[in-house]
Amino acid sequence: MLSLGLLPLFCDVDPRTANVTIESVKHAISSGAEAMVVTHMWGLPCDVAELRHLAEARGLKIVEDASHAPGAEINGVKAGALGDIAVLSFQAFKLIWAGEGGVLLTDDDELYSRAVVFGHNQRRIVELGADNPYAAYAPLGYGLKLRIHPLGAVIASHALRQLPKVIERQRTSARVLDEALRDSPLAEPPATTPSMKRVYYTYKPLLKSPDADEKTREKIISRLQRRGVPARIPDSGPLSDHPIFRSGKGQLFGLDLRPEREEFPGAHHFFGRAITIPFPNTGTENDIEQIADEIKSAFGGAYTKEC
Ligand SMILES: Cc1ncc(COP(=O)(O)O)c(C=O)c1O
Repeated sequence: MLSLGLLPLFCDVDPRTANVTIESVKHAISSGAEAMVVTHMWGLPCDVAELRHLAEARGLKIVEDASHAPGAEINGVKAGALGDIAVLSFQAFKLIWAGEGGVLLTDDDELYSRAVVFGHNQRRIVELGADNPYAAYAPLGYGLKLRIHPLGAVIASHALRQLPKVIERQRTSARVLDEALRDSPLAEPPATTPSMKRVYYTYKPLLKSPDADEKTREKIISRLQRRGVPARIPDSGPLSDHPIFRSGKGQLFGLDLRPEREEFPGAHHFFGRAITIPFPNTGTENDIEQIADEIKSAFGGAYTKEC
């Protein structure tokens, strides 16, 4: 966004899901806003239908970042088909992966044509047809050529074919881990609701407040690691804490950024409590049962009291 000269207006997230909410988006929108960027965090779809009313009333487009959530659904509609335009990263750890690369999805002809001119060049633009208003840009487009490497596209199409199986295995594993956390006094399983069919870009239990202190989290993580479960603190944190936004120095992109002053308590609450547990990529039911046993002991309460 910054490299396109667009200024982000951050909004807080639900501390239980890490997804934006209608209230947080309403609070963030100011005049001049053009679009909402909605990320389905770690595979849990945002309620985009609810956001759509707000978007229509304010003349905003909805851009979905479905990188974590291919195959997830809300009320029968797949992530990536909920907004006006969707992007999916196919970076190496995503559910559909290509090493690097990604795709853009839209059913809007105008947005599609503009994306083709922006990110492709030559033949793809010619294919838009001679009567397309953007046909004149065929020789170069913007010259940016942002498209996925063809070899990456081949890998991604293989991963796409595997996706239903991967999701099924993930959901089975998640049910086992949810069950292991059911009676935990310390943590709760990742969120979901009856209208959603989520997927998992890693499994993230949340420590229950008020026990959610850093020491408890560290103890649980190191116990899990010692027992062979590669748990960790989430790699990312609230985007608004990035030095570019806190310092307000946008020189990197020649932008006039105001230093971000809001604290976004929902985001801090989520990131202060979450523990990342990757699913084994391959493995048997036995492996997931063993992870569940370790989770049961680590989050059982007795362990943290002992130490
Ligand atoms: C939700 C989300 N969107 C976008 C990206 C960036 O993707 P890329 O590295 O393909 O640009 C990531 C990267 O991990 C991500 O997690």
